[in-house]
Amino acid sequence: MTTFWSIYISVLTIGSLIGLTWLLLSTRKGQSHSTTDQTMGHSFDGIEEYDNPLPKWWFWLFVGTLVFGAGYLVLYPGLGNWKGLLPGYENGWTGANEWQKEMDKAEAKFGPIFAKYAAMPVEEVAKDPQALKMGSRLFASNCAVCHGSDAKGAYGFPNLTDRDWRWGGEPETIKASIMNGRHGVMPAWADVIGEQGVSDVAAYLLVNLDGRSLPEGAKADAEHGRAIFASNCVACHGPEGKGTPAMGAPDLTHPGAFIYGSSFAQLQQTIRYGRQGQMPAQAEIQGNDKVHLLAAYVYSLSQEADTRNVQR
Ligand code: HEC
Ligand code: HEC
Repeated sequence: MTTFWSIYISVLTIGSLIGLTWLLLSTRKGQSHSTTDQTMGHSFDGIEEYDNPLPKWWFWLFVGTLVFGAGYLVLYPGLGNWKGLLPGYENGWTGANEWQKEMDKAEAKFGPIFAKYAAMPVEEVAKDPQALKMGSRLFASNCAVCHGSDAKGAYGFPNLTDRDWRWGGEPETIKASIMNGRHGVMPAWADVIGEQGVSDVAAYLLVNLDGRSLPEGAKADAEHGRAIFASNCVACHGPEGKGTPAMGAPDLTHPGAFIYGSSFAQLQQTIRYGRQGQMPAQAEIQGNDKVHLLAAYVYSLSQEADTRNVQR
């Protein structure tokens, strides 16, 4: 607050208090102290006003509020830039400061717990029930919007409870995925291999990698697709299509690994236009200690799954 507004507010507030005190005392002056039957001398439609003193209880209540007001303004911030005599309001009294105080209190209480887990390896933390409870709460408020409250993912968002990893399921890899975020870049192929090429390579994935059969009437040559795959896709997805975690290129050999769908039409769509999956980095939002707990929680989920999630 600038000095001008500080003085403006102070003058207005103190002026009001003084004015009210004066009003109270001046109207009391010269009055008799007990009830009279004298009137003020005016009459409105036959109604007259007695000239009686203010009721004592009312008078003292008013004095009480004035004293309370003055005391309050001395102890707490209220008069412009005056900080108040009580400690703890050095930065004024604002919602933001109160929030910061709450956060500091929470940090003092939970900080040491977070720090204790942060010093343990992720695998160890993943065996601690209290840590997993904290992790699941963090997950519910920060991750469930995309990965689902059961962490089983959704269209475009990977399932985190299975053994299919795009970037890797090692504890430290999971932590890195959460800390720094991930950006999967699958190029668009329509211009490179043509529309027929898109169908052919989609057919190859379906038939040769996954052992399913093409939908009735599909005009696609899976054998030609094999050649396209060998020259365009193996660099990222690997010679057998099992994926390359270092690039976030997923396994293309079974339906459970696909997040954009694995029907013939969905495969063509993905290959034609490409995909850009984005996992937002959490380092700045959550900090290392919370991400550590999240990583342990996510790791524990996948440990329960010993079979691959076959159908999506
Ligand atoms: C430059 C590396 C790169 C090349 C080359 C590449 N891909 Fe990909 N592909 C990726 C990445 C990374 C993803 C994951 C994208 C994402 O997560 O959004 C992906 C995803 C996919 C998916 C979707 C998987 C899912 O989860 O639904 C399919 C299908 C696919 N690629 C097929 C192909 C085919 C067919 C080719 C060759 C024509 C090819 N890719 C070439 C990197 C590549
Ligand atoms: C805005 C949506 C969004 C939010 C919020 C989000 N994620 Fe993700 N996450 C994604 C997407 C999309 C991917 C896949 C990235 C790719 O295509 O490679 C992903 C990938 C991951 C991976 C790597 C999976 C793999 O197969 O390697 C992990 C681990 C992960 N997220 C954990 C989390 C955790 C923990 C949180 C909460 C702190 C979180 N995510 C919040 C969208 C999100």
